[in-house]
Amino acid sequence: MEADKKQGNEYLIRQMQIDDLADVFHLGEKLFTLREYPTLYRTWDEYEVIGFYTGDPEFCLVAETGGSLAGFLLGSIVDKRNSPRKYGYLVWFGIDEKFQGSGVAELLFDGFKKIMQGEGVHILLVDTAADNDRALSFFRARGFSSPRDHVYLTLNLPGEVTKG
Ligand SMILES: CC(C)(COP(=O)(O)OP(=O)(O)OC[C@H]1O[C@@H](n2cnc3c(N)ncnc32)[C@H](O)[C@@H]1OP(=O)(O)O)[C@@H](O)C(=O)NCCC(=O)NCCS
Repeated sequence: MEADKKQGNEYLIRQMQIDDLADVFHLGEKLFTLREYPTLYRTWDEYEVIGFYTGDPEFCLVAETGGSLAGFLLGSIVDKRNSPRKYGYLVWFGIDEKFQGSGVAELLFDGFKKIMQGEGVHILLVDTAADNDRALSFFRARGFSSPRDHVYLTLNLPGEVTKG
């Protein structure tokens, strides 16, 4: 897709390929831990990566540097019934800690934005934990705001968890 150089690293931003799935999954395992993301209603697992790859491959990007995975972004398009607007949803976004702060997140995000514009998307959505200061700074610096506060509630139901 495009190669760019930020802070000494040259990054290639491209669509995720089948050979990337394991690396993306393992990087996500390091980043999206239950301790850090206790209230995520989505769970990071291999089905998540495979699901995006098979369902929306054109909205799944990776950043590569020196043959290694530096980060990834998995998104989709949400068509709401009775709404003329098309929404782009950035669902998973992760940068290897070694490459955080190097500008690669911006390259991935710009790539995603261009693809979404090409799809006729009007609004981009992203959600993250309220205390994820780094992610919130990143998105706010790129023009995201919270037009509506959304409160997420949970209720623990008594009883044993049955394994599926
Ligand atoms: C969120 C994430 C993708 C951003 O990538 P990154 O390389 O860290 O992003 P950048 O360094 O370019 O930008 C982070 C911004 O937060 C600021 N920042 C850095 N540390 C911060 C902190 N502790 N608190 C608040 N802001 C912080 C930076 O100055 C930067 O601001 P700027 O864009 O105005 O310059 C990456 O940190 C990550 O993978 N986090 C773990 C997974 C995650 O939370 N994903 C998002 C939800 S799906």
